[in-house]
Amino acid sequence: MDELLGLKESFRAEVASVQNLADLQNLKNRYSGKKGLLTLQLKSLSSVPPDQRPQYGKTLNEIREDIEGRIRDLELSFKEAEKERRLLAEKIDISLPGRPSHFGTAHPLTQVLAEIKAIFVSMGFSIEEGPEVELDHYNFEALNIPKDHPARDMQDTFYVSDDVVLRTHTSPVQVRVMEKQKPPLRIIVPGKVYRCDSDVTHTPMFHQVEGLMVDTDVSFSDLKGLLELFIHNLFGKGTPVRFRPSYFPFTEPSAEVDIGCIFCAGKGCRICKTTGWLEILGSGMVNPRVFEMAGYDPEAYSGFAFGMGVERITMLKYGIDDLRLFFENDLRFLRQF
Ligand code: PHE
Repeated sequence: MDELLGLKESFRAEVASVQNLADLQNLKNRYSGKKGLLTLQLKSLSSVPPDQRPQYGKTLNEIREDIEGRIRDLELSFKEAEKERRLLAEKIDISLPGRPSHFGTAHPLTQVLAEIKAIFVSMGFSIEEGPEVELDHYNFEALNIPKDHPARDMQDTFYVSDDVVLRTHTSPVQVRVMEKQKPPLRIIVPGKVYRCDSDVTHTPMFHQVEGLMVDTDVSFSDLKGLLELFIHNLFGKGTPVRFRPSYFPFTEPSAEVDIGCIFCAGKGCRICKTTGWLEILGSGMVNPRVFEMAGYDPEAYSGFAFGMGVERITMLKYGIDDLRLFFENDLRFLRQF
């Protein structure tokens, strides 16, 4: 009995110095582990004289319940404190300002192309597409570009085989559409084109938008009015527009269209080569030969066509002086749009 009471006393002393869960675990092992002090007492019960056994067993039980209860309580409060600490460490201040995230935007060429499309769609044009790998027939022959024309020079055209090329312009789609649709026709054709050319102002691939309108009484003044409206929509109302006689095998007559230089307001600068004008597209009345080859009656129908470079228009619209910026994907450039 003395030993038992001594056990109670020693536990009380030891439990006072327990600092954490590990200490507590040690103490628990020392008292109620397999070879713990309480366990040993329980095993020695058989060596207690029978008449003292009930009293001894009762006291042992009381002490054991006492000790184990105390250990359980401590365990709980240590775990509780540990949880408190963790919650405090993980605390998030939801009143702090958030970290800004960068949103991507459409590429400047995509943005300008979308603007061009929207302007023509608002004037009743629909959007058509055609293949980038094209037959020589559509890229040249059906556009009245004979075999010996300089535009067919190997220097400009990527040949896939004798009769297959990477299209050098979007004009072949004019013919493809005319072959499967009857007039009246009002289409634009955006797409990639390829030319064997590479320097500061030329890339082997660039983008064009083709336009074609065919009906019974389409005149050059329709072409002029439509393109003027388009340019004023894209570059601003007061932009000066000039039609300059030119030549394309698939249009007759043909004109190139200039706008007043937006960098020097027409005074003459390095970019407009002191002329005060910037060329932005090629155009003309569809050549009757082209109608014939596409199966349209040139006596019954007339029409106009035009073609523009998307890179060039984007450079002029935003004052970008290096074509390569469009293809480098430098975020410092792209984020400005
Ligand atoms: N296809 C011509 C070019 O690439 C542009 C053009 C299209 C001219 C339609 C007249 C009519 O230069």
